[in-house]
Amino acid sequence: MSLDRIQAARPETAIVLGSGLGRVAEALGVETEVPYTEVPGLTASTVPGHAGRLALTHVGGRAVLLAQGRRHMYEGLSAHEVTAGIRVMRSLGVKRVVLTNAAGAIHTGFGVGELMLITDHLNLLGASPLTGGPNFHDMSGVYSAAWRAGFLEKARALGITLHQGVYAATPGPQYETPAEIRMMRALGADAVGMSTVPEAIQARALGMEVAGISMLTNWAAGIQPQTLDHAEVVTVGQSASIHLAELLKAAL
Ligand code: HPA
Repeated sequence: MSLDRIQAARPETAIVLGSGLGRVAEALGVETEVPYTEVPGLTASTVPGHAGRLALTHVGGRAVLLAQGRRHMYEGLSAHEVTAGIRVMRSLGVKRVVLTNAAGAIHTGFGVGELMLITDHLNLLGASPLTGGPNFHDMSGVYSAAWRAGFLEKARALGITLHQGVYAATPGPQYETPAEIRMMRALGADAVGMSTVPEAIQARALGMEVAGISMLTNWAAGIQPQTLDHAEVVTVGQSASIHLAELLKAAL
């Protein structure tokens, strides 16, 4: 079965693809794939725009594991449950993971359709995947500075706009109110989304190197007069995926 093929390739790098970012996998070229339902420990996503499969690709001759689609706490899962994929990756020998997501832009210097490299996060989920232990894990450098420098250098060389900023994770499933976005901005958030933070915490606790990239699919609530729409978030994610794929190809 194809999980064996993925295992045999011994990928040390993984990429988690967020909402509507499945096109990144197409652009990277998928060699073999296996639905989450066939991977012990994983379960299928319930959200449109989230494929729910592990795939293998090669970047610069090196095997890279792709997780297409992720589980979210708004599906009714715990922070521990939504990070099962990270633990599976670790058990497959993965040492570093790029977490991608669709996010709302809070920083008004950013633009919709652009990318933001996550420098740090605000965990506003009220939950941690580490509840029950291990306790007191250091979180002062979650997003690898060395890896970030590499992404910035490649983005510059490719002429791709790559902002840097703080990602705030909110439980959802509803989008935020304008007042909540003002609060998040006051707290130091540059972008907002409903994922990534539990995975980043879990990956760090397992000793993995972490990078995070947000695709800014919309303005956060209240910044522009429009309302928020999931279908639009997915569409913008799809059309801007090509830049993300190019950047990943160059940086990995
Ligand atoms: N808020 C929360 N999550 C999101 C958003 C947003 O504006 N856009 C994409 N995911």
